[in-house]
Amino acid sequence: MAKKFPAGFIFGGATAAYQVEGATREDGRGPCVWDEYMNRPGARFNADPASDFYHQYKTDLQLAHDYNINGIRISLSWTRILPEGEGRVNPAGIAYYNELIDECIKQGVEPFVTLHHFDTPLKFFQNGHWLNRDLIDKFVEYAKICFEAFGDRVTKWATFNEPWSIAQNGYLAGNFPPNETFQIEKAIQIEHNLMVAHARALNLYKSMNLPGKIGIVHTLEGKVAISASPADCHARDLDDAISNRFMLDACYLGKYSDTTMSLINEILQKNGGKLITEPSDFDDFARAAKQIDFLGMNYYSSHFLQAWDGDSQVVNNSTGEKGTSVFCLKGIGARVSNPEVPTTDWDWPIYPEGMYRQLKRIARDYPNYKEIFISENGMGYKDDFEDGKIDDTPRIEYVTKHLEAILKAIEEGVKVKGYYIWSLMDVLSWSNGYNKRYGLFYVDYANQKRYPKKSAYWYKAISQRRELVP
Ligand code: BG6
Repeated sequence: MAKKFPAGFIFGGATAAYQVEGATREDGRGPCVWDEYMNRPGARFNADPASDFYHQYKTDLQLAHDYNINGIRISLSWTRILPEGEGRVNPAGIAYYNELIDECIKQGVEPFVTLHHFDTPLKFFQNGHWLNRDLIDKFVEYAKICFEAFGDRVTKWATFNEPWSIAQNGYLAGNFPPNETFQIEKAIQIEHNLMVAHARALNLYKSMNLPGKIGIVHTLEGKVAISASPADCHARDLDDAISNRFMLDACYLGKYSDTTMSLINEILQKNGGKLITEPSDFDDFARAAKQIDFLGMNYYSSHFLQAWDGDSQVVNNSTGEKGTSVFCLKGIGARVSNPEVPTTDWDWPIYPEGMYRQLKRIARDYPNYKEIFISENGMGYKDDFEDGKIDDTPRIEYVTKHLEAILKAIEEGVKVKGYYIWSLMDVLSWSNGYNKRYGLFYVDYANQKRYPKKSAYWYKAISQRRELVP
């Protein structure tokens, strides 16, 4: 394992517009899908005020600066910039992001800007969401406006955050809108459409001769067979194909490899359905694959796969009561617990080895990759005050093990250039609300005050020394 992180390594903190900004009705912002979803009768929480980043971004960036955090992942709210998702630009939205980006730069906290972090304009969601290919063009138009407005200063752009989560959570697990379950055909189609939107936006950016870099953020959950049996290993390969490989191929090979397509077709045959593509999609993929500057890798966990012949079943743990999750997909496999691997209260296996393996896998299978940023990693935990302090030692242990995995991969030649802890401050969790905290800084939601957790002091020391500290 390398001892030190390389010079220039970014020790960042991650956020996303919808999870931190609040102010969902201020200054001309239009509605996104989550506004409608989180304000339905019976909803347990909503995004006002979230972490009030819309008003408190200067405080948060000052904290980042003071704690030696030299990068921040932010995302842009599409409907703050284009209230109807298209057409009329909202000057207040542009002004807000201009001020935010300028403040990041002033504080020495480099902004890494994601164009889309789940918050599709409501109108487009209601009109077919990412199954409707018209949305691809709308996204590229929105991207162009952002590149023109902020591209002189933003040097790291990601097109999308976690296309797989949009597909899986919305159409398989049912815990994101539109809450559909087991719609495997739709999930695969959405992945493809998002890859086309990514490729077109990336190609556009590259044609604009702007000074920055552009990539995409994927959630690369590890997939591990629970036994060496061929059936369990095949379940692992199928889950990996639909969750990871299909989209990595599009981004880095510029096509779907024959092996990938045979796994995807097997899943479609068992569930019914057909992937619809257009010939030009593959021209777009091929151009983008030659130009992509970096991969943002979100990694929290790995899944242990067992062969599964039964029907699909899902129970989402959205409370933090350990041992309540179930996820079995027809034609793919069952995600089962591994008694040797600890889990978080939300049943996410804590498996840093999976992060190391995913990093090595990128280097092996996609040797044309240029750089990787760990764009999210962190531990959801029920933090609280004790004697005026927030002792989040389990989070420190979790992050330590993942940073060790990164150092090992770096030692073996994988080009990892930065780490953005999820999250900078406590944020709204999409399906868990405010009781699942991730931040380095505790947010008291009653008054929006920030308090450094033990992990904030610890992270500062690591960033200052560029090496792990106890
Ligand atoms: C990632 C997302 O999937 O995981 C974040 O990019 C999200 O937006 C994070 O908050 C943690 O998920 P959760 O459900 O624990 O909040």
